[in-house]
Amino acid sequence: MHGVERVGVVGSGQMGGGIAQVAAMSGFETVVYDLNSGALEKCKALHDKLLARAVEKGKMSADDVKATKDRLTYSDKLSDLHESDIVIEAVVERADVKKDLFKSLVGNLSGDAILASNTSSISITDLATSVGDAADRFIGMHFFNPVPVMKLVEVINGLATSKQTTERVLALATAMGKTAVPANDRAGFVSNRILMPMINEAFYAWMEGVAEPEHIDEIMKLGMAHPMGPLRLADFIGLDTCVHIMEVMAEGLNNPRYRACPLLKQLVTAGRLGDKTKHGVFRYD
Ligand code: 3HC
Repeated sequence: MHGVERVGVVGSGQMGGGIAQVAAMSGFETVVYDLNSGALEKCKALHDKLLARAVEKGKMSADDVKATKDRLTYSDKLSDLHESDIVIEAVVERADVKKDLFKSLVGNLSGDAILASNTSSISITDLATSVGDAADRFIGMHFFNPVPVMKLVEVINGLATSKQTTERVLALATAMGKTAVPANDRAGFVSNRILMPMINEAFYAWMEGVAEPEHIDEIMKLGMAHPMGPLRLADFIGLDTCVHIMEVMAEGLNNPRYRACPLLKQLVTAGRLGDKTKHGVFRYD
């Protein structure tokens, strides 16, 4: 059993907001913390919109939506997470920022609270060094965007993660309506180890003039039954995030084959980051 009643989420962006929404919809008292109150407001507005749409579509009753909202707290005070049975971190993909956060939280949580990171590629073993003796309760819980839709949670054990922590998190992911699949702690884990080289190769194919971007995507959608082509997916994920994950893998796996394609890097340099800047490979007007 997971033994979790209260879920704390750090970061109210696309991933943190999605995780908090799913946790609250699954019956958990949920606090979503962000030091940026503007981001919290945006997160709440998106929750309101998605939950209202669920009622319109007949997927949730108005009572269920009200109960979900009552379980959700938006806070800019870190201390509001102190009662959490699990804290799931979904902040910027920087090991130093994540470690500082866990360092300031760990002493204030109960002795059996789980510390989870939603990192897409950073070593769980490394992040766990920030929590000292609590490293056995540290684990990777990698959700996928859009979190309310995607079924997978990739569960990553660090070197010190205890069997009990893994079992609790597998049970928790199931209680959140997800399918949890374990992976070990190698840069990029399984998902990004396989996804990112495919996306990177699509940029090489575009750079080398093998086909136009829309044709590359069409070929992969129709020929491989992917819901989005790799270039559209790169915009959806964020081109800066794709470069970052490639760099973490190139360094962590010590292999130059994971270097980001020059064209992908150039778009990031130009500020074309994808959906979030309304221009990446494609324009979103
Ligand atoms: N939040 C909540 N629900 C959403 C949503 C969002 N942001 N975006 C779409 N949805 C819901 C819609 O409401 C709709 O629900 P319904 O079936 O109940 O009506 C359903 O998803 C389908 O949406 P649409 O009809 O608008 O559009 P599509 O059929 O084109 O689906 C998609 C959109 C689900 C995003 C689909 O294109 C898809 O699955 N794309 C691939 C996504 C993917 O690969 N994600 C993983 C990225 S990698 C990652 O996250 C890991 C990281 O480490 C990089």
